[in-house]
Amino acid sequence: MRVELRVNGLEAAAECWEGESLLYALRERLGYPGSKNACEQGECGSCSVLLDGRLVCACLVLAAQADGHELTTVEGLAPPGGLHPVQEAFLEAGAVQCGFCTPGLVVATVDLLERTPHPSDAEIREALSGNLCRCTGYEKILDAVRNAAGR
Ligand code: FES
Ligand code: FES
Repeated sequence: MRVELRVNGLEAAAECWEGESLLYALRERLGYPGSKNACEQGECGSCSVLLDGRLVCACLVLAAQADGHELTTVEGLAPPGGLHPVQEAFLEAGAVQCGFCTPGLVVATVDLLERTPHPSDAEIREALSGNLCRCTGYEKILDAVRNAAGR
């Protein structure tokens, strides 16, 4: 089936299998590999994207469900060659080690700060509770979100 959507402000289309995930379509058909595939079960958050402005796990959404909708991936947060303030905050705080979880955490943080510009630590922990990191121990990530919130 043909799926047509807007990704990061650009028209996009692909022929997809009916049961195909949005994550697979993004990575393998549409040329957006920034969203990572770690669990494919909605457990890790590495595939987080904004679908019509709502945070979702792209591995749990069918590509067909995104037909006609608006998608923002980590690639679309900043202009080409630039960094979003949240990405800068992650780099400056040392919140990136292997980096596999980072795109999902950045998208989830952007979503949090758009809804709650000055979150408490409890709100940060709650908002990022669906994003797993196996490297950092989370403290640097919390520092990064606190710093980003001030920008
Ligand atoms: S790959 Fe989607 S939640 Fe883990
Ligand atoms: S930096 Fe490696 S999983 Fe988070």
